[in-house]
Amino acid sequence: MVNSSSKLSDLLVRGIKNIGDVNSEFMQVLEREYERQKSVLMMVASSSYASPSVLACMGMPTVNITAEGYPHARYHAGCAEVDKIEEVAITNAKQIFKAAYANVQPHSATTANEIVTYSLVKPGGLIMGMNLSSGGHLSHGASVSYSGADFQVVRYGLDENYLIDYDKVEELALQHHPKMIICGTTAYCRKIDFKRFREIADKVGAYLLADISHISGLVIAGLHESPIDYAHVTTTCTHKQLFGPRGGLILSGKDAKSKVFGENITLEDKLQSAVFPFFQGAPMINQIAAKAIALELAGSLEYTQTMQRVVDNAKILFNHLQSKGFDIISSGTENHIVLVDLSNKCIGGDVAEKALEECGIIVNKNGVPNKKINGNNTSKRPAGIRIGTNGISQRNMTAEAVQKCATMIADVLNHTHGASLETCKVDDAVKFDVLRKVEELCQEFPIPGY
Ligand SMILES: Cc1ncc(COP(=O)(O)O)c(C=O)c1O
Repeated sequence: MVNSSSKLSDLLVRGIKNIGDVNSEFMQVLEREYERQKSVLMMVASSSYASPSVLACMGMPTVNITAEGYPHARYHAGCAEVDKIEEVAITNAKQIFKAAYANVQPHSATTANEIVTYSLVKPGGLIMGMNLSSGGHLSHGASVSYSGADFQVVRYGLDENYLIDYDKVEELALQHHPKMIICGTTAYCRKIDFKRFREIADKVGAYLLADISHISGLVIAGLHESPIDYAHVTTTCTHKQLFGPRGGLILSGKDAKSKVFGENITLEDKLQSAVFPFFQGAPMINQIAAKAIALELAGSLEYTQTMQRVVDNAKILFNHLQSKGFDIISSGTENHIVLVDLSNKCIGGDVAEKALEECGIIVNKNGVPNKKINGNNTSKRPAGIRIGTNGISQRNMTAEAVQKCATMIADVLNHTHGASLETCKVDDAVKFDVLRKVEELCQEFPIPGY
């Protein structure tokens, strides 16, 4: 066994060397990207670091296997070992989320949402999701995605305190009678009341889909309520808070064995055939292996502690930036997200993103609900930035280090000039000071395993 695993590692090492032989410049790009990741403060809310074991799974020769179908029901021979891999992933997913049903094959969360939506609502049917501009996701009914193009959509938003307006959601649901209500967000920093969403869905006979892509780790760690038994179906990606490979999961709890409305088929059977053969072909076994490992790691005490840090660090970031005069959306954060409103500053979210990147801090520009840059109502530029604490928490940063991050962000934003990406400039003294401090922090708190 030792011998065979060392051969497997030889294969990976040889593969890395061979990339350089095939195209040395390409290898240099890959190496530079690895060095970049280690030497910047990655504070993108939708990102995290995959552990080396997760990375290794994605380079395995299981990529050679065509395995259309499901364990023990494949369209091809030679799948005995990959069956075991997929079974472990399913078991781990069900265990960690306390779900009755798990499908580990979806290629992404968007694909998972697409599969669930088309399975439970006919094209042209009515779905209800959160506005993109309030913090919803593209696949929750945005006009530029399948969900807004192929379905009719009723959109809900936030109240004046930037909280989900549940009464309004109920009012809209009673008025329009959607077939499915989608909850779950992309740029919302508060807990979600899944129970209330289910009550609303039940009142109008709608399915409830909970997309927990952003908060799946907080759910696993018990820091946020689990939607598994409230929603008919729950989806998540595996590459944000699960620290896994790019990919998606479809989960279901107590409704898994109930019948689909008006059909003689259970929810889990419907979803199973919707993933394959309806929407996807052969599964990506390497990704599934990596999901299995990521889900296993998510059961550790270390992971739970990291999730606690994720929440604590976001609060520190929130308070520190607020004390430095920045407007932050909502009166607090309960997850990993801090949404900074720059609408009253002379710079937009795009300029802020660029300025911070020049100083080694990676965030993303983000719209701020009902806010425009400098009150310019015709501007399509995002008025804020979204900052996330997954990455710095994986780096085990202390409270003091997180305060330093907040101070650096404030310093850069306060010393950035220029109203557009072309004219944007950070004062040199601040830029070099922050670049030095980022380097120090990255050395003091390396990415585990990198
Ligand atoms: C709530 C939510 N759902 C789905 C997605 C899409 O995930 P994927 O990249 O796996 O399609 C995102 C990505 O940002 C998201 O925030």
